[in-house]
Amino acid sequence: MSYPYQITNIEQYHRDYKRSIEDPAEFWSTIAEHFTWKKKWHTTLNWNFSEPKIEWFKGAKLNITENCLDRHLEKFGDTPALIWEPNDPDEHHRILTYRKLYEKVCQFSHVLKNNGVKKGDRVCIYMGMIPELAIAVLACARVGAIHSVVFGGFSAQSIADRLYDAQAEYIVTCDGAYRGQKDIPLKSVIDDALIGNRIVKKVIVTTRTRTPVSMIKGRDLWWEDEIKKVETLGLTDFPAEEMDAEDPLFILYTSGSTGKPKGVVHSCAGYMLFTTYTFVNVFQYQQGDIHFCTADIGWITGHSYILYGPLSAGATTLMFEGVPTWPDAGRFWNIIDKFKVNILYTAPTAIRSLMGFGLGPVHGHDLSSLKVLGTVGEPINEEAWHWYDEHIGKKKCPIVDTWWQTETGGILISNLAGITPSKPSFATLPLPGVHPILVDENGKEVEGNNVSGNLCIKSPWPSTIRTTYGDHERCKTNYFATYPNLYFTGDGALRDENGFYRITGRVDDVLNVSGHRIGTAEVENAINMHANVVESAVVGYPHDIKGQGIYAFVIYQGSHAQNTHGTAEMIRKDIHQTVSRIIGAIAKPDKIQFVSGLPKTRSGKIMRRILRKIAEGETENLGDISTLLDPGVVEEIKNGKL
Ligand code: WTA
Repeated sequence: MSYPYQITNIEQYHRDYKRSIEDPAEFWSTIAEHFTWKKKWHTTLNWNFSEPKIEWFKGAKLNITENCLDRHLEKFGDTPALIWEPNDPDEHHRILTYRKLYEKVCQFSHVLKNNGVKKGDRVCIYMGMIPELAIAVLACARVGAIHSVVFGGFSAQSIADRLYDAQAEYIVTCDGAYRGQKDIPLKSVIDDALIGNRIVKKVIVTTRTRTPVSMIKGRDLWWEDEIKKVETLGLTDFPAEEMDAEDPLFILYTSGSTGKPKGVVHSCAGYMLFTTYTFVNVFQYQQGDIHFCTADIGWITGHSYILYGPLSAGATTLMFEGVPTWPDAGRFWNIIDKFKVNILYTAPTAIRSLMGFGLGPVHGHDLSSLKVLGTVGEPINEEAWHWYDEHIGKKKCPIVDTWWQTETGGILISNLAGITPSKPSFATLPLPGVHPILVDENGKEVEGNNVSGNLCIKSPWPSTIRTTYGDHERCKTNYFATYPNLYFTGDGALRDENGFYRITGRVDDVLNVSGHRIGTAEVENAINMHANVVESAVVGYPHDIKGQGIYAFVIYQGSHAQNTHGTAEMIRKDIHQTVSRIIGAIAKPDKIQFVSGLPKTRSGKIMRRILRKIAEGETENLGDISTLLDPGVVEEIKNGKL
């Protein structure tokens, strides 16, 4: 079975695209007819980018979980909604049918309500990749609470900052999480994050690893005990809260060019529509297909293409707790074989890392169920693209290279599997409803083909970022003020002779390390917290597996080579420890070079351009360094390059 809004041939793509740009309101309101509403909208679209104000389906009432669960019960009640594969292949997997998932979400909605969670409250979710994470997210949406999922790799300090920014009163977490050989004590990290916190009222903890935890009286509750109370009462339904189309659905923090992560806010109706529409069209999902997105639900990809998009489409979505390389580098291929996966959606960094193990781990697994492959999160290099195509897709699966961002909620530029053409390392064409343009530094549109520029979007699509939580001005400055009346993506792109887009990478101070966004300023702030660090500058450099690595230039008090605090190697480890504490292990620099000074202009601005070139291995063409306060420092930095 296909979907009424599924694009089935290239002519239709062009037709739908044209219609969507000429009259977005008409286009999206026709699609919206295929969703479940408690009340219909009176105004399809109302917007201006200058405030910014973006409103879709104003006047409508809905609950996204009725679209993700209730509406499928009659037809697909016994169909698997969620397949869960544990970290340890010897542990049994779990399958939750639509009915089962519905019941579990309803039960946990009662738990939330019993503990005081109301519409609009912020609930921070810090969990491993277990079904309870999906259940917690959906239960928040069902009671109308705003979830803020924090990736399990972030430190206590990062959680504390996010809790405070969102003024979250509730937390849902696990005792611990398994990831490969590691056992991460999540509850203990939460306990650290809560030192001095006076806002959080309740912490609900589910059992996964049975790591010792300290449960604080009056604040901490076991998930299982709370569910038992609901079960005793025989409650398996929960009336979904009536939400306005524009009520916030969730907050997801992401890095920008300033030191502080931003709470990106998405709203109910537009996000639902766009994630469902793009899921069905980009991957060409057919009823019965098994969709395996390898992202973590702590990132936007997991929100949109493990949970909301697939579930709203009545799809079967596979959620994997572990890592691609444990117990061996054949784990993905093993899962594909075991569940006869049809769609695999992963990150270029995972492909590159698995390529490094050769073809051994691929052999012996039957991958013939695969129909569509996808990539997301960073530009894919041609070598990785061809390896994916040849050895995983066996040259019979279209590869969709999907470009989008936390702020865009869903995929904006991508080929549609088997419908529109693909081109290695090109995201290709925009989705219907998406109007990309390229501009030069002055914001002047760069027209025609075979050109490059900064990538902007001209008009709103349904899941455009609505605000940054608690600070609307910041949303405006970050995304809508660089170029008037345009949404600025922060990415550079080129458009080839066919009008296909290739994303060339960030043009701001944001790094993309293994598909994770990390702001250089954030890492610098963390390094600078180390007692002996005077100053630091962080830039990215090309990394074979991670895409970009983190290169830190650090001025260390006293001698940097050997001093009373140990050797340079020991000091590097101290700095790693500091960054892990402040942000999380994902932000640890790959290289730390000690320097006696940083290249600065006379006005004191660090010339990152020069540092970037040095980190990339360029020694000759560093550009004009005559405006530097101390040009001599450049020579020293060049000579000390790691
Ligand atoms: C980058 C992830 C090239 C880009 C969904 C963007 C990509 C940032 C691609 C957003 C792609 C994402 N090709 N680059 N297919 N997809 N990016 O918010 O720089 O974690 O701005 O969202 O990742 O990262 P985020």
